[in-house]
Amino acid sequence: MKVDVLLGLQWGDEGKGKVVDVLTPRYDVIARFQGGPNAGHTLEFEGQKYVLRSIPSGIFQGDKINIIGNGVVLDPALFKAEVEALEESGHNLKKRLQISQKAHLILPTHRLLDAAYEAAKGADKVGTTGKGIGPTYTDKVSRNGLRVGDILHGFAEKYVAAKARHEKILKALNYEYDLTEAEQAWMEGIEFLKQFALVDSEHEINQLLNNGKSILCEGAQGTMLDVDFGSYPFVTSSNTICAGACTGLGVAPNRIGEVYGIFKAYCTRVGSGPFPTELFDETGERICNVGNEFGSVTGRKRRCGWIDLVALRYAIMIDGVTHLIMMKSDVLDDFESIKACVAYRINGEEIDYLPYNINEEIDPVYVELPGWQTDMTHIQSEDEFPEEFNAYLSFLEEQLGVPIKIVSVGPDREQTIERYTDD
Ligand code: GDP
Ligand code: IMO
Ligand code: MG
Repeated sequence: MKVDVLLGLQWGDEGKGKVVDVLTPRYDVIARFQGGPNAGHTLEFEGQKYVLRSIPSGIFQGDKINIIGNGVVLDPALFKAEVEALEESGHNLKKRLQISQKAHLILPTHRLLDAAYEAAKGADKVGTTGKGIGPTYTDKVSRNGLRVGDILHGFAEKYVAAKARHEKILKALNYEYDLTEAEQAWMEGIEFLKQFALVDSEHEINQLLNNGKSILCEGAQGTMLDVDFGSYPFVTSSNTICAGACTGLGVAPNRIGEVYGIFKAYCTRVGSGPFPTELFDETGERICNVGNEFGSVTGRKRRCGWIDLVALRYAIMIDGVTHLIMMKSDVLDDFESIKACVAYRINGEEIDYLPYNINEEIDPVYVELPGWQTDMTHIQSEDEFPEEFNAYLSFLEEQLGVPIKIVSVGPDREQTIERYTDD
């Protein structure tokens, strides 16, 4: 068996949580391979809304196994709060969740370092989620990190040493803080973690594959936030691309099967950094309001703009996308016309690829298409798609070279339409 991978192709918040939940009945296992509580994956069904941070989005569907892989960074305090909130709403997941011993722990001092580094950057700040993601991955790569497995082996000493090292840096940055409360919640989180199956998830996953089980890997963030290929330095600190599933789970490259690339019918971004198609006008405000484009966890207003096919083509290439999934098409239901960026103009020269420096002044070249001006939120099948909507899909497929297999027309699990036309 092979694993399938689901990835965001833009700057995050494409709707990954919803689609993983929708696809889960087709798989035996759902696995997260990178990122941490910087993610906010929203699922809606039966009139309820859930936002997941570290727990894979397959947790609500029956008895599926959900795995937090080695590539993930875990904050025990936030994890405890997340699990307890789900339990309160009647979802007991302890028996269905496995955590890699090799996943790295986010310490309370990592969060402080995140804030201190951002403050030191001033106007150049990344606009991180403040969850300690960058400092935790930095410690991992510099071989100073604490891993989940360490909580069972000489933990106290390792924690004290890591904290002392972090405190030296915080002092040098003149960063003032009080750790007492956060540290207490974190220690409670560490004890809480011990109830879970702490596994070598690479063995589990390969064994499951050898036994014919099907696995869906759930990406967090988006391709344009990848530490190597995203809009560096305005990125997150992990590999959000398809290859991240290999390193973040211990899956060999030749075991990757289908790659689902998911994108919004327009584009959004949170935090700082380049966004060539960003709109600063009424249209941008309209997309933001209709699309309810506010952070799932932080409530931060998302920057909004037209779809960027140059960046999408790049993401599709890097990820090896085999199927596309378009989200939030209903947000454009009332628009008279819709724009799509097909090329960039830089210093008067037109290019159709992503340049090294997307921080420079880019003038997007747009194609304008007629809107469908139809309420799509109750549509049940592709036969009901308005003509203009079908034309928009065909235009995108032609531009992107990959079929759009699923279209989402609302936040609910049920508001999802499969396309069979090309089969
Ligand atoms: P993720 O991080 O990729 O899982 O995405 P988020 O959950 O952060 O953001 C996506 C938002 O869009 C959530 O509030 C979803 O409930 C919502 N959403 C998902 N699909 C659709 C859709 O097709 N239409 C509309 N209107 N909202 C959607
Ligand atoms: P999901 O999984 C949108 C952005 C932050 C910031 C940059 C670095 O819900 O799509 P970090 O805290 O990771 O060091 O922040 O990355 N970012 C996201 N933007 N959705 C996310 O996750 C994000 N996770 C990180 O806003 O610009
Ligand atoms: Mg999100």
